[in-house]
Amino acid sequence: MTSTPSTLPLPPGDFGLPLIGETLDFFGDANFATKRFQKHGSIFKTRLLGKPTIFIQGADANRFILTGENQTFVVSWPPSTRALLGKRSLALQVGDIHQNRRKLLAQAFMPRALAGYIATMEEITHRYLQRWETQGQLTWYPELRNYTLDVACKLLVGLDHGSQTPLGQQFEVWCKGLFSIPLPLPWTRFGQAKQCRDRLLQTIEQIIRERQQRSDPGTDTLGLLVQATDEAGNHFSAEELKDQVLLLLFAGHETLTSAVASFCLLTAQYPEVLDKIRQEQQQFPADRPLSLESLREMTYLDQVLKEVLRLVPPVGGGFRTVVQDCEYQGYQIPRGWSVLYQIGTTHKDDLLYPDPDRFDPDRFSPDRIQSQTVDQQKYGYLPFGGGIRECLGKEFARLEMKIFAAQLVRYADWQLLPDQSLEMVTIPTPHPKDELRVRFEKRGMPNGNG
Ligand code: HEM
Repeated sequence: MTSTPSTLPLPPGDFGLPLIGETLDFFGDANFATKRFQKHGSIFKTRLLGKPTIFIQGADANRFILTGENQTFVVSWPPSTRALLGKRSLALQVGDIHQNRRKLLAQAFMPRALAGYIATMEEITHRYLQRWETQGQLTWYPELRNYTLDVACKLLVGLDHGSQTPLGQQFEVWCKGLFSIPLPLPWTRFGQAKQCRDRLLQTIEQIIRERQQRSDPGTDTLGLLVQATDEAGNHFSAEELKDQVLLLLFAGHETLTSAVASFCLLTAQYPEVLDKIRQEQQQFPADRPLSLESLREMTYLDQVLKEVLRLVPPVGGGFRTVVQDCEYQGYQIPRGWSVLYQIGTTHKDDLLYPDPDRFDPDRFSPDRIQSQTVDQQKYGYLPFGGGIRECLGKEFARLEMKIFAAQLVRYADWQLLPDQSLEMVTIPTPHPKDELRVRFEKRGMPNGNG
């Protein structure tokens, strides 16, 4: 950064309409960024949610933004998201507090904690497989939402059948307001979500209080977080824990639903990949319970899941606010503006991924991956973001995806029903427009390991 940034030109691009800029296009057009990158090159400006915003693309751009965290850039969320998450949520914390809270929360995602989650994930997966088999034909996406919510509720706060409880129902209304116009009126999405936030926090508070009084707080996430201490011996206060638990419920639900739905869709469309996954699964007898070790041995399944998250990343990128003037590729990036690092378009960069629209799990085979530089691997493949705000739940997410996928391919067959739109809708997270309608059949249910 040698020249004075303010003498440099601004990036190309249009601000669109006064105030709202190009916000409607951004939310309505899945190819918003791709189209503008094609027109302007790897950097452009626009206006979103009332703020001038710069999009930058490529592994190098991702490195530039993610390594500048807390110095040049700080995390930023839309006003509706900030209000609904609450100021004590990790997603909004910055600087030392953020680092301290991350360490505390990370205690619930250590390998030992994860190993303790496996049996519950298996059990809930079996329950749903049986349910879908009875249904025969179904619209899968809403079912998958219930599935991931049940797993999140059980493992995070110990609640059974969460999707069918008042907490689960309020949670869904709350989610719908997260990216909305922040008008707190009783009939707006935001207003309804705000009311649900208050009720959700009351319920979560009751659950927390009950745990704090138990001699054994339990081994689910909440149990571990109630006991977690930092180096100075401090615990989470009940007030903060409420916001953190709500964040984890959200973060672990929307994204995972999209990821498992994409797995179901892509393996239905690429039967040769499904066959190879099944061949690998034959090495793992049904009566051998799943463990971190056996899951690690499923290396082809690992490649498939990586490729699912490359092709359809549940999170398309991340917003940051510029807190210090800087420059990138000869353009100024002014303080006060927003920047957006790119996950979706980076994963479609044909220099990194030849024939990028093809679902090809062999891209992640060890010999092909070795030909990439460390930076390409780190900042050219980032479904979980990167730097000091990388996804806290990434190992939990990988575990759940793998358990779900392994069980599904072993014990079920599914085909896409005709006459449905598989076009991807991106809000709240990517999923097929008609919500994935399938015929579902049993393939020989497990004996003894569920
Ligand atoms: C396939 C599933 C998932 C994907 C693709 C995903 C993706 C991401 C991404 C891209 C970020 C960074 C956002 C940014 O840079 O602004 C993030 C942050 C985060 N994720 Fe995930 N996530 C997933 C599952 C989960 C799960 C299961 C949990 C917890 C149970 C979780 C908890 C979090 C938290 C707490 C953060 C904020 C971290 C911070 O600000 O320090 N995520 N996730």
